[in-house]
Amino acid sequence: MMGIVFKLVLLILMLCPLTINSSFQYLTFVQQWPKGYCTANPSRCQRNPLPTVFTVHGLWPGNFTQILQNCKISAYTPLQNFQDWNNRNLRWPDLAKPSPTMQNFKQPRFQSFWEHEWTKHGTCSENMYPQATYFSRTIQLSQGHNILNYLATGNISPGSNPTVRSVNSTIYRAISNHVPDLMCVTPPRQTPALVEIGICFTATTTTIIDCPSQFLRTGSCGTGTISFPA
Ligand SMILES: *[C@@H]1O[C@H](CO)[C@@H](O)[C@H](O)[C@H]1NC(C)=O
Ligand SMILES: *[C@@H]1O[C@H](CO)[C@@H](O)[C@H](O)[C@H]1NC(C)=O
Repeated sequence: MMGIVFKLVLLILMLCPLTINSSFQYLTFVQQWPKGYCTANPSRCQRNPLPTVFTVHGLWPGNFTQILQNCKISAYTPLQNFQDWNNRNLRWPDLAKPSPTMQNFKQPRFQSFWEHEWTKHGTCSENMYPQATYFSRTIQLSQGHNILNYLATGNISPGSNPTVRSVNSTIYRAISNHVPDLMCVTPPRQTPALVEIGICFTATTTTIIDCPSQFLRTGSCGTGTISFPA
C-alpha cells in the first residue's frame, strides 16, 4: 500500500513541471516573407528559387505573463516519406537549406528547422496539440491566412515601401480588427525590411485575438517607412 502511494507521489512530482510548462494561453502563428528573411540573413539564405508567398516560421504557444520555450516533453519525429516532406515543405520551407533530393531528404539537416520549431515551441502546447496535430494545424492556419492577399487589400505589394502604420492597419482590418505582430530587420545603413507577420489565436486556434502588447515586436520596424523587398 505504502509502495503504491509513494509511486503515485513520485509520478505526480515528475509530471508537475510538465503541467506547469504546458500552461499556454494563446498561440502566435508567425509567417515570414522569404525575400525579407534573405535580406535580413544574406549568409544563411540558401533556398533557390525563393518562394514568392509568405511561408510559415512557426506556431508559438505563450501565456500572457511569459514566452514559453523548450518544454521538453517529446522529441521530434522525422518524416520518413518524401511526399510528406514535400507537402510540409511547400508551406513551411527551411530557407536556410537548399532543396534536398528524394535520395537525401532524410538527412537530419533537411528537417532541422521543423525539429527546432517543435522542440522550442511545439512542446509547450503538446498537452493540446500532439506532434502530428501541431504540424497539421499549423499548415491549416497557413492555408487560411494568405498574408500577400491581406496586404493587397491595402494596395501593399512586394517591391513597395509602405509605412509601418499602413502594414499594421491593413493586416489589422484583414483579421477582423485584431492587432498583428510585425517583425523587421534593419540591414546596415538601410531601412527596416519586413520579415515576419504574426497573428495571435486563442489556445484552440478557433478565434483570432490581439497579439499581447507586452510581446509585440512591431517596434523593430521603426515608425516610418519600411521595405517590402521583391
Ligand atoms: C505562464 O507560464 C509560466 C511558466 O511555465 C508559469 O509559471 C505561469 O504560471 C504561467 N502563467 C499562467 C497565468 O498560466
Ligand atoms: C496597429 O493598429 C492598431 C489598431 O489600429 C493600433 O492600436 C496600433 O497602435 C497600431 N500599431 C502601429 C505600430 O501602428
